[in-house]
Amino acid sequence: MPESTNYAAELEQAVEQWTRQGLPTPDVVLVAGSGLSGDFGETLVPARDLGEILPFEAAGIAGHALSLEVLRAGGETTTTTMYYRGRLHAYQGFTAAQVVFPMRFAASLGARVAIVTNAAGGMYEGVRAGDLALIEDHLNLTGLNPLRGSLPATWGPQFPDMSDAYDPDLRATTREIAKELDIELKDAVYAGVLGPSYETPAEIRAFSGMGAGLVGMSTVLEVIAARHMGLRCLGLSLVTNPAAGTTDELLRHEDVLEIGRSAAARVEQLIAGLLASGRLVG
Ligand code: HPA
Repeated sequence: MPESTNYAAELEQAVEQWTRQGLPTPDVVLVAGSGLSGDFGETLVPARDLGEILPFEAAGIAGHALSLEVLRAGGETTTTTMYYRGRLHAYQGFTAAQVVFPMRFAASLGARVAIVTNAAGGMYEGVRAGDLALIEDHLNLTGLNPLRGSLPATWGPQFPDMSDAYDPDLRATTREIAKELDIELKDAVYAGVLGPSYETPAEIRAFSGMGAGLVGMSTVLEVIAARHMGLRCLGLSLVTNPAAGTTDELLRHEDVLEIGRSAAARVEQLIAGLLASGRLVG
């Protein structure tokens, strides 16, 4: 695979440009999936189009504006967060390397912790639309991997360990903060699929049998890239629907978006609590 396919030179250039402009560098990177769009604190860098940092064409395909902000969350903390509103998905036609470019950008600028949120279908017992779940682990069923090919050794090891992909300490902290805020959190393994078709009931039965409790079309590639570069990761899923075949209802993208909007307040409250806690980065 030619090296340029991984955007190594372009990443270096984007980082150099950011630093040259004296823009603030992040401790934390937050990737907000469908429906999440809270304001989490004082904005250090006003929202700018994600296209400004991407070395490839993304507008139009994504269908809606993707933006990036840098902010300082409320509270006593001095934690700086790079906040991506929206993300690139492989089902839109982006390569794995393109999907993870924003994550690698934040990591290269110094982020040590990644918070990744998504909308997901729920497969666990008693699942309801609107549930919030902490991702404990994942199955990468996309058939893609952002580490394929030859990558700069400075990014990380060729065969990174993925045993604690979702950091146990961050999960424990998140549970404590959720409890303080009286927010109920499930725990589940997230199956990441390519999409964009929803799953068949047979696929959902298979994924359940493999130990997954959530299914969605994002997150796993970003977390692989983040772990590769040494970031500790936290994944939060907003369950927008029971997965295919677990109820009589058919899956409609509009419903997924609607539930996402109505339950987003709790995810945003939890993330605000996390960012303000000062407990994410040591
Ligand atoms: N399947 C895959 N992705 C999803 C789902 C689902 O049921 N709900 C939200 N994103």
